[in-house]
Amino acid sequence: MKMLLLPGDGIGPEVIDEARRIIAVLNTGHGLGLEVESAEIGGASIEAHGVPLAPHVLAQAKASHAVLMGAVGGPQWKDVAYHLRPEQGLLDLRKGLGLFANLRPAVCFGALADASSLKREVIEGLDILIVRELIGGVYFGEPRGIEELPDGTRRGFNTQSYSTGEIERVARTAFTLARQRQGRVCSVEKANVMESGVLWRETVTALHAAEFSDIELSHMYADNCAMQLVRHPRQFDVILTDNLFGDILSDEAAMLTGSLGMLPSAALGAPGQPGLFEPIHGSAPDIAGKGVANPCAAILSLAMALRYQLERPDLADLVEKAVSDCLADGYRTADLAGGPDTRQVGTQGMGEAIAARLAG
Ligand code: NAD
Ligand code: IPM
Ligand code: MN
Repeated sequence: MKMLLLPGDGIGPEVIDEARRIIAVLNTGHGLGLEVESAEIGGASIEAHGVPLAPHVLAQAKASHAVLMGAVGGPQWKDVAYHLRPEQGLLDLRKGLGLFANLRPAVCFGALADASSLKREVIEGLDILIVRELIGGVYFGEPRGIEELPDGTRRGFNTQSYSTGEIERVARTAFTLARQRQGRVCSVEKANVMESGVLWRETVTALHAAEFSDIELSHMYADNCAMQLVRHPRQFDVILTDNLFGDILSDEAAMLTGSLGMLPSAALGAPGQPGLFEPIHGSAPDIAGKGVANPCAAILSLAMALRYQLERPDLADLVEKAVSDCLADGYRTADLAGGPDTRQVGTQGMGEAIAARLAG
């Protein structure tokens, strides 16, 4: 099996180095047999190849079993042409691999129940799965652009658009995953103001009636969902939502778990296609190069690759347990609130502690 590593920019390379450390331990100690190669994406690719995703790197991604990415973007590239910005490389990769379903689990590890900005009793035991549509909606809708108006002012515009097929395939993923969990899906849109939301609700309702009537389905407007996530997050099992709402709600959900540095993701497409696994955080330019970034989201993204793509759920369990044990033993990167009996470590220190548990 082959995994393509795309470290990217900012803290990306720092956290991917720690994922690499975990792969090495799984290869030597647990018979994983995963071959890794690496390539550039984002700003790093602009420097190396002049574009944020080179065609040969997309081809390399397609030829591997899974792709693990760090992060893209940063102030160094603020002046490049808009269609060549680092983030476009990531969007092209998702689109190029047909990755329509983005799984973003927000799980509160027991040891971090006091690290959240919310009270322990609100987030203790939290286990939500956000299923975000990833290659449609306003991120990709046409027309889009900035145009000059006759009076000399300008107008910027984007298009939110969803077809029934795009809604059905991601909804099917959400319902199917719900069957392995608590069996509840909350579909989130703004059908009260957007036609695309009306179609979203109708399509999800019809699919539910036709194929998934054993699942409990509810609907919620996105603004209410944002509020409910901080009021009573444990009411949710699976949240199914579109590309833009999913982006926003998953950052919000991340903070429930203690830090954005804890949240992994898996982007999946058609069966047999390689998936893309990445932390949901960005390149964190404010802390890049300091060796303090939390590598847990990257390491837990590797665990998602083991679970959802590489058919090693046993190793995924081991990695998740190693992370959980390290947190229970008091290891904390700077983004996680400390407290009595905790010890602050850097990116490498956290990676080494997790690797040591897997090796021992
Ligand atoms: P960000 O996620 O990079 O950072 C937000 C805040 O969270 C910062 O204070 C950062 O220090 C902190 N943070 C993030 N990850 C952390 C980690 N692992 N450990 C400790 N602290 C962490 O978001 P931003 O500042 O809005 O964006 C910075 C750049 O990253 C932009 O160019 C943006 O487009 C890009 N971005 C990329 C991705 C991605 O590659 N998937 C995701 C989001 C943002
Ligand atoms: C994410 C990021 C990306 C997104 C950007 C960097 C394109 O914020 O993965 O959450 O908006 O999808
Ligand atoms: Mn985001």
